[in-house]
Amino acid sequence: MNNYYELKISINPEMEDIVSDICFTNLDCEGVVLAEETYKDLVMTATTEGTLRVFLTDVDKNPVEILKTERELLKSRGFSDEELGSWEITLDEKENQDWSKKWKEKWTVTHVTDKIAVVPSWLEYSPKENEITLTLDPGCAFGTGTHQTTQLCMKALEKYFKKGCSMADIGMGSGILSILAKKLGASNVYGCDNDETVIDVARKNAAVNGVECIFELNTADKLNEKYDFVCANILHNVLYEIMGDLKNIMKDNGILSLSGILDEKKDVVLEAIKRENLKIIDILTQDQWISYVVTK
Ligand SMILES: C[S@@+](CC[C@H](N)C(=O)[O-])C[C@H]1O[C@@H](n2cnc3c(N)ncnc32)[C@H](O)[C@@H]1O
Repeated sequence: MNNYYELKISINPEMEDIVSDICFTNLDCEGVVLAEETYKDLVMTATTEGTLRVFLTDVDKNPVEILKTERELLKSRGFSDEELGSWEITLDEKENQDWSKKWKEKWTVTHVTDKIAVVPSWLEYSPKENEITLTLDPGCAFGTGTHQTTQLCMKALEKYFKKGCSMADIGMGSGILSILAKKLGASNVYGCDNDETVIDVARKNAAVNGVECIFELNTADKLNEKYDFVCANILHNVLYEIMGDLKNIMKDNGILSLSGILDEKKDVVLEAIKRENLKIIDILTQDQWISYVVTK
């Protein structure tokens, strides 16, 4: 068995999810381990909070340089050095052990609400009556149901999505929101993403879940059709830029679920909501994340 590489990055713990998404998207990594805590007699004796561990099978692409570039990109999008953390990086070659199995052990069923559960494919799970299950494996694309921003959109779908309606998922990543919409009875679902690496992943996920969705490499500004329900779980600055495009693809009485917004960045999104004359009908929050449900 080949050896593997462990990359350790010092980050602001609040950026854990964003940085791990960057690693999955850009580094072909096999797994990411978030903060681990060690307890003795119910007292925390150690924590790795602030250090993200990323496992790679090769380093041909120079992961350190890629992360430096991604950090600069986040800075150009308005994140400060303080918000990001130092991103000091160490890279070590390790002897192989069955770490991929170990990593899998960390994943369990995610109960997003009483009615929605996300289940990794290697686990056996018997759903409760009327419970919707989504089969999704971590890795490859953003959206495995564990991230707060995904959960906020899923909650908005559960609350506002009506059977027989159409749905557009802008930035569909793994396709999780599209798959949920289909399982909630959507007539047709269209998902697009500007990252070509996620298209096949989303298509496979839809097939595994036994639903039909259209997934394409595309962006909202290129779409002509209008939808009853639009989801966009993308960083605040992107939402700011594309809010008009999102509005254009909503039917007159359509609903738009906006997520991906850190509480401290909400004013940027609120400004774009106001600019486009959209009306807020609900605000959902989870930890430091906020999500808006709006209509025309
Ligand atoms: C936070 S992930 C959300 C994935 C999934 N929808 C979920 O809720 O878990 C954001 C996704 O949006 C995509 N994205 C970023 N900017 C975009 C844009 N302007 N148009 C379409 N997709 C975009 C990214 O490639 C990424 O897959």
